[in-house]
Amino acid sequence: MFKTVEWKNGCVRLIDQRLLPEEETYLDFTDSDDVARAIKDMVVRGAPAIGVTAAMGATLAGKAIETNDTGEFMAKFEKALETLSASRPTAVNLFWAIERMRKVAKTSLPDGGVDFTKQKLEEEAIKVYEEDLVINKKMGENGAELIEAGDTILTHCNAGALATAGDYGTALGVIKAAHLAGKNIKVIADETRPWLQGARLTAWELMKEKIPVRLITDNMAGHLMKKRLVNKVVVGADRIAANGDVANKIGTYTVAVLAKRHNIPFYVTAPMSTIDFETATGDGIPIEERDPSEVTNIMGGQRIAPEGVEVYNPAFDVTPNDLIAGIITEKGVARAPFKESLAKLR
Ligand code: MRU
Repeated sequence: MFKTVEWKNGCVRLIDQRLLPEEETYLDFTDSDDVARAIKDMVVRGAPAIGVTAAMGATLAGKAIETNDTGEFMAKFEKALETLSASRPTAVNLFWAIERMRKVAKTSLPDGGVDFTKQKLEEEAIKVYEEDLVINKKMGENGAELIEAGDTILTHCNAGALATAGDYGTALGVIKAAHLAGKNIKVIADETRPWLQGARLTAWELMKEKIPVRLITDNMAGHLMKKRLVNKVVVGADRIAANGDVANKIGTYTVAVLAKRHNIPFYVTAPMSTIDFETATGDGIPIEERDPSEVTNIMGGQRIAPEGVEVYNPAFDVTPNDLIAGIITEKGVARAPFKESLAKLR
């Protein structure tokens, strides 16, 4: 089985997701700025995986600081955290994990000095990683209860082991748990333009798990729903506002509108760390815009649009809470009104 992210012999080891499914290559990082670049360049992607990677990146940053002066350590550590924070703007798990590491440094420095703090940072990063594995399993169990025998589930982007610390994933965790419970489910994977996470990652993961999957292009989802070939939609999330509006991979909103039109329950699966209680509604969620070449070229290669064409490339969209049947977390399933139900799970 592949490993998404690992703390290995003092390095951060990442599977290079840009090369999947053709090549299973691992990259080792010893410098936190390189980890930030890896997040930005999509070596690793998916909200929880980005959070775990940033925590490990912060550990590298701490270990590289050569001083016994706690003030100087904290100033240099903050600079490294700033670089990690600037890697991607939408997935809130990034900022959540960085905040955890900042807190560890702030409390450990006065308690035990620099060497003690370096040790505590490593312990915290491993904790973030191990907790994510446990949380994903729990979300899978909670979500599998909503799946009926024989369901065909549509998913968008990749919210599997590759998008988290490993093993289960979020939306794919629900699918894997339902499969293991013998529910005889099938999956429809949207290819997910422009990065093709559905085609390259979701299809690959599900095939490895021997879960029946059919790949479609994004514009086929409505046709399948109209023909009653989809019973449920389950997706992940990059950030959930306090009112239950969900930012996820571009195209998710379209799927949610289609699901509503066809009375198909639309579920979101995410750990509590993806819920941003500081952001009241989806309007406050920053949406990453990425390079035009991701739209004009296929996988950095073949050009498919005229030279010089103007491009808009938002990487995420926001699904309003009224299109969502439930938000599956490790603490239980929240339902409308989400402001109240999410706050209760906190
Ligand atoms: O741009 P990406 O690949 O990082 O976007 C990932 C997604 O949108 C996932 O669906 C989301 O992070 C949920 S992952 C558990």
